[in-house]
Amino acid sequence: MEIYLKPSVRFVSLARRFVYDVYTDILKDADLAWRLGMATHELLENAVKYGEDGGMTLRVTTETIQGKDALVLTVSNVASQENARILREAFAEMATFEKPSDYYDMLMTRASTRDEGSGLGLGRICTEANMSLSCQIDSGNVVCIRAMTPIG
Ligand SMILES: Nc1ncnc2c1ncn2[C@@H]1O[C@H](COP(=O)(O)OP(=O)(O)O)[C@@H](O)[C@H]1O
Ligand SMILES: [Mg+2]
Repeated sequence: MEIYLKPSVRFVSLARRFVYDVYTDILKDADLAWRLGMATHELLENAVKYGEDGGMTLRVTTETIQGKDALVLTVSNVASQENARILREAFAEMATFEKPSDYYDMLMTRASTRDEGSGLGLGRICTEANMSLSCQIDSGNVVCIRAMTPIG
């Protein structure tokens, strides 16, 4: 599935509902569908808040990763130079944590002294949605954030 959306807050919750409904029906697994919906929400909310130009793309695919089937959710948008830098740093830091829960604990401690935003969105995808995250940023600052989970 691939959809291109105007970056509107309204589309964030509509897309979350759509993903939840579609994948509950297809996968017959309400918990997995909820996790996909939550990750959709966090990633699209970021694209609305931090995207630079007109649109955001949401893609859900199945892939075979190391011989196992996986669901992959991808959101892409254009970022400012500054947000691209923040994202690179966030993913480099995330990679230093072995356990997603340790990463999230650190983010929560940091959130208590932050003035802007919670800074917890990406961490929530790792812990609550139990999905692994990766990020690609090309030379034009098109960011592509992938959330992946194995499926049975
Ligand atoms: N899609 C995106 N485009 C540009 N910058 C992003 C995107 N997603 C995240 N970021 C950057 O990464 C930071 C962390 O995002 P997140 O963990 O969701 O926390 P929050 O949204 O509360 O700041 C954001 O503040 C922003 O600077
Ligand atoms: Mg966020």
